[in-house]
Amino acid sequence: MDVKAKKTALRGISYGLYIIGTKDEEGNVNGFTGNWLTQTSFEPPLVALAVKAGTRSEEQIKKTEMFSVNILQSGKKDMVTAFFKSVEPEGNTLAGYEFYTEKTGCPIFKDALSFFECQVVDKVEKGDHFIYVGEVTNAGVHREGNPMTLKETGFYYGG
Ligand SMILES: Cc1cc2nc3c(=O)[nH]c(=O)nc-3n(C[C@H](O)[C@H](O)[C@H](O)COP(=O)(O)O)c2cc1C
Repeated sequence: MDVKAKKTALRGISYGLYIIGTKDEEGNVNGFTGNWLTQTSFEPPLVALAVKAGTRSEEQIKKTEMFSVNILQSGKKDMVTAFFKSVEPEGNTLAGYEFYTEKTGCPIFKDALSFFECQVVDKVEKGDHFIYVGEVTNAGVHREGNPMTLKETGFYYGG
């Protein structure tokens, strides 16, 4: 295979960019920036999320079988940048961003346009990221706006 072509072609996939919320078994919350997310079924509503194997977030999703997805507004580059690295909660904030919880206990950010929460129903442990299939069990909308895309940030995660 032409490795350069593989990289260019895979980077041609269009993505959004989200803050994925997780929690540990004690209920301590965590969040990370992720783009490898897509809807895979209308009924039941399913999404697939690829999470780097062995990270704190992946360990938490494996154990609690839950995650939240925060849809950010276009332009919120500072917020996604804050979640590239591991974060620790301080009161009801993560990396300085206020959150609350609903059904799953995973963080929902007030700054997000909308959110949904998932119960893990299946997983695929192949490669350096594991795929978690989540059934959407709760969702909410804070306000209208254009969702953030990976392209607008100039960042890459793929290839
Ligand atoms: C632009 C960008 C997109 C990313 N997308 C993903 C992703 O889809 N899945 C993933 O597991 N990590 C992704 N990451 C890496 C995580 O944000 C990073 O590993 C995070 O710090 C893990 O947090 P943790 O150590 O608390 O688990 C991405 C990073 C960047 C810079």
